[in-house]
Amino acid sequence: MAHQSALIAEDIGAYLHQHEHKSLLRFLTCGSVDDGKSTLIGRLLYDSKMIFEDQLAALEADSKKVGTQGGDIDFALLVDGLAAEREQGITIDVAYRFFSTDRRKFIVADTPGHEQYTRNMVTGASTADAAVILIDARKGVLTQTRRHSYLVSLLGIRHVVLAINKMDLVDWSQEIFDAIVGEYRDFAAQIGINDFTAIPMSALKGDNITEVSAKAPWYSGPPLMRWLEDAPVEDDLQARPFRMPVQWVNRPDLDFRGFSGLIASGVVRPGDKLKALPSGRESTVDRIVTFRGDLPEAVAGQSVTITLKDEIDVSRGDVLAASARPPEVADQFEATLVWFDDEPLLPGRPYLMKLGARTVTAQVHEPKYKVNVNTLEHLAAKRLELNEIGVCNLALSAPIAFDPYAENKDLGGFILVDRLSNRTVGAGMLHFALRRSHNIHWQATDVGKASRSAAKGQKARVVWFTGLSGAGKSTIANLVEKRLHAEGRHTYLLDGDNVRHGLNKDLGFTEEDRVENIRRVAEVSKLMVDAGLIVLVSFISPFRAERRMARELMGEGEFVEVFVDTPLAEAEKRDVKGLYAKARAGQLKNFTGIDSPYEAPEDPEIRVNTVSLTAEQAAEQIVEWLHADQARDAAG
Ligand code: ADX
Repeated sequence: MAHQSALIAEDIGAYLHQHEHKSLLRFLTCGSVDDGKSTLIGRLLYDSKMIFEDQLAALEADSKKVGTQGGDIDFALLVDGLAAEREQGITIDVAYRFFSTDRRKFIVADTPGHEQYTRNMVTGASTADAAVILIDARKGVLTQTRRHSYLVSLLGIRHVVLAINKMDLVDWSQEIFDAIVGEYRDFAAQIGINDFTAIPMSALKGDNITEVSAKAPWYSGPPLMRWLEDAPVEDDLQARPFRMPVQWVNRPDLDFRGFSGLIASGVVRPGDKLKALPSGRESTVDRIVTFRGDLPEAVAGQSVTITLKDEIDVSRGDVLAASARPPEVADQFEATLVWFDDEPLLPGRPYLMKLGARTVTAQVHEPKYKVNVNTLEHLAAKRLELNEIGVCNLALSAPIAFDPYAENKDLGGFILVDRLSNRTVGAGMLHFALRRSHNIHWQATDVGKASRSAAKGQKARVVWFTGLSGAGKSTIANLVEKRLHAEGRHTYLLDGDNVRHGLNKDLGFTEEDRVENIRRVAEVSKLMVDAGLIVLVSFISPFRAERRMARELMGEGEFVEVFVDTPLAEAEKRDVKGLYAKARAGQLKNFTGIDSPYEAPEDPEIRVNTVSLTAEQAAEQIVEWLHADQARDAAG
């Protein structure tokens, strides 16, 4: 698809060449339906002749049927493609549209304006070079204008148009236009938008869209389309230091080993010195290989395969970078997070973090604050809910190479993915590495876990009891410890109620507190396993994600999950501590099984049924399992 050009008829070859070599501008429109956003996009498509004849006919017919614009064409109908949207009169997802002019190609992300769609706007804006912020001239700068502008600034979009629309409805008043621009300028400076272009327009009538309109003789700037054609694309990406996240290691045979990826910034030539990160090893570029043959040079935006002169270790997810100006490497950061998921962000829970071509596990600490996107106020927060934005510290499972987002979106922007559901739950922008990330190093010790457990004549491990309150975890764990102790084993029992009297005294029973409760006890049990002990952990530990985190902290075969399987009705009937009665009476909030969830293990090493077994029998079953495992170990 392309705009209508005389060249198409005259010289199709020349046309295609020209079309292929035009630059591409990605931009975002923000504003609400009432501001005329869909109409504006429809107008841009129409004026660049991107609408096919049959679409136009349908549009004319629809416009008459729906009839919001009298006899005129309702351009919004072209854009608000979904039937459901038409009926509700709102735009609900990010729609990307393509159009082109003689000079440039465009992709426009049309994102919904309501606060509950912050995540859609962030998605649409993440690759945009420019933003068109719509204002209804009759209404001026609104809360949503501020919200959109804040997001645009947060996402690092530096080219901004303030499209003051519906000027025809205020008689093209320069006074009104100037007042809006003045108000916006004051606000924009606060959020770091120092430069913007304000254009008076009527998207509906087509004024100042492609042609300068005679209706505002006092306006001397460009019409919107010209501004879009002239806006600088991706700025100085090529002028920045070379960065290429390695998407895959291309090794078809023993003689060839290339590193393939998309160049995020800079320029590379054979002979350049590169550094592989996080390892820090250096080498020199030998060849730049593409399908069409070797290149003397490659730049940001190109996908290439690079071969090096030395055999250095480079893996998928590493970054190849200019030796003289490498990115930083760290495993703890401050970042801004935008939360995308219905389930809140729980500090301490491990998520997958994808940055560049790298995937690591990340734990987010409690937010330093969240931002009220309407007023820009900073608010205290324990978690982030859907569409909320906050500033948090993150700790990763391994060091990664990164640039601050403000310098390089590809190496500073990331997404978080839930490890169980695989959903993208958030997006983030790295600010800087925490200094402690550089200043704390692992201290090696001479006496290790193996020698400590050998001295005790046992295999160190965690036996992790999970189940509802009152399921019988502590009773059974206590019996198991007694048996092991009698056999001369070195043990320790960590019990939820007891640990909550000391180390975890500050924690309650909200989801985030439970996540932190389990994170701490998992870390403590890891230390105890390192000390060579057999650790019995008896915590409700209601969430799969945290039990999995605990498992992953331990070595292979060191984590034995015991599901103390007691149905809710049975635990409630026993109600040893009288807590179920209180919870049912509404005197105890967030009680597991009542108004707080319990996620049963899917594949525990041991499941004990406390309805058919006594506590002694259950303990016996567990001790037998441990004996058999020890025997398997000795044999293997
Ligand atoms: S966990 O969910 O964070 O793993 P943990 O095992 O430490 O819980 O503590 C559970 C114990 O705290 C229960 O056995 C019960 O005695 C007590 N308790 C008090 N309030 C609650 C509650 N709201 N939900 C569950 N247990 C509670």
